[in-house]
Amino acid sequence: MPPVRPHRPPAFVTHDVPLAPLTTFGIGGSARYFARCEGVAQAVEAWGWARSEGLPVFVLGGGSNLLVSDAGYSGLVMVLGGTGVSVGPGVTAECVTLCADAGAPWEAVVEAAVAAGVGGVECLTGIPGTAGAAPIQNIGAYGQEVADTLAHVQALDTTTGALVTFTAADCAFGYRDSRFKRAPAGHIVLEIALRLPVGARPCLRYPEVERAVGARAATATLADVRAAIRGLRRSKGMLLDTLPNEASDAGPPSDLRSAGSFFVNPTVDASAVARLPPDAPRHPQPDGRFKLAAAWLISNAGIPRGFRRGAAAVSSRHALALTNLGGATADDVLHLAAWIRRAVRGRFGVTLVPEPVLLGFGAGATELLDVVESTLSADL
Ligand code: EPU
Repeated sequence: MPPVRPHRPPAFVTHDVPLAPLTTFGIGGSARYFARCEGVAQAVEAWGWARSEGLPVFVLGGGSNLLVSDAGYSGLVMVLGGTGVSVGPGVTAECVTLCADAGAPWEAVVEAAVAAGVGGVECLTGIPGTAGAAPIQNIGAYGQEVADTLAHVQALDTTTGALVTFTAADCAFGYRDSRFKRAPAGHIVLEIALRLPVGARPCLRYPEVERAVGARAATATLADVRAAIRGLRRSKGMLLDTLPNEASDAGPPSDLRSAGSFFVNPTVDASAVARLPPDAPRHPQPDGRFKLAAAWLISNAGIPRGFRRGAAAVSSRHALALTNLGGATADDVLHLAAWIRRAVRGRFGVTLVPEPVLLGFGAGATELLDVVESTLSADL
């Protein structure tokens, strides 16, 4: 019997591509196969080839919510090339539909919305990553999340190869969560459409934003709120890009080598809240539970900003961002994360859960951190 030869990959698929430069953390090994797909046809072709080879597929957006393992990824990493943002059909006096290719930078969507005078995403300025990633983890900040204004998502069903459209209800959104995040292998997001209200007042739901806008709050425009939020994010070391005319006091470069918030804010029941000090922030949720501030828990569990393990450190500007000081490995980050998780659990009885996607580790986040935690020395 002649040996079974693998099918040749499409010409645009390359080998052994380092992933670290494609992530904001700047950490991780290589992708065994890599494809930059120009258009839906190439995305379908690359995915079809990987499926025929039995290879797992990962769609990489801006790499800003991602930790890649030091060993890399043994499947196909796909990047979607389309970057268009346009006003779609169905414009009325009340609403505009904004459509974006999955590969468009998310900030281009915010920019287009603010320029068109439509509200709904001005607080989501300064979030790195692509439009296609926005619904996957339901990005949110300062009182808005993409679930609030999403009209539909167009995606490739990776089981059938069919193009499918999901309404916002179909996406089953939750806090930093969606059907796409829960079943990442099921669909490849190709395009999103937002339905945004014309002439909306900017969202000033967070007192922090109102304070940042200052005396102009009552008459603030969408652009004023966008600028104020970019300033807030900059002060927290969570603004990776700088627009023309913007200050660039973003802090030490290492603060910007991160994946944003490394842990989600935990939601706990009343009995867990009762064990916390009275000054611990807590936000009641519709289901009677409470959302806590993971950054506060970390800061008050004896983990100061700048705390480091190997070349990974807590950001100098925000306790929730873990950063790469230069040359950090994924292992360093996991050790730091496990150390923090243990300290917070020990002090407050709350177990933190990571927010970024962990790629190429062969295990889920909780399982991984449990293993790393079991290897930590006993001293806190
Ligand atoms: N705090 C500390 N120490 C710090 C920073 C904050 O104790 O170093 C405390 C403060 O009491 C503060 C509270 O933590 O009031 C919450 O901090 P912050 O207002 O900065 O917001 P966050 O809950 O840490 C969340 C999102 C961010 C989003 C901001 C603004 C999550 C996991 N994070 O951060 O999203 O930009 O609110 O709405 O939900 C992301 O998801 O990657 C992200 C950056």
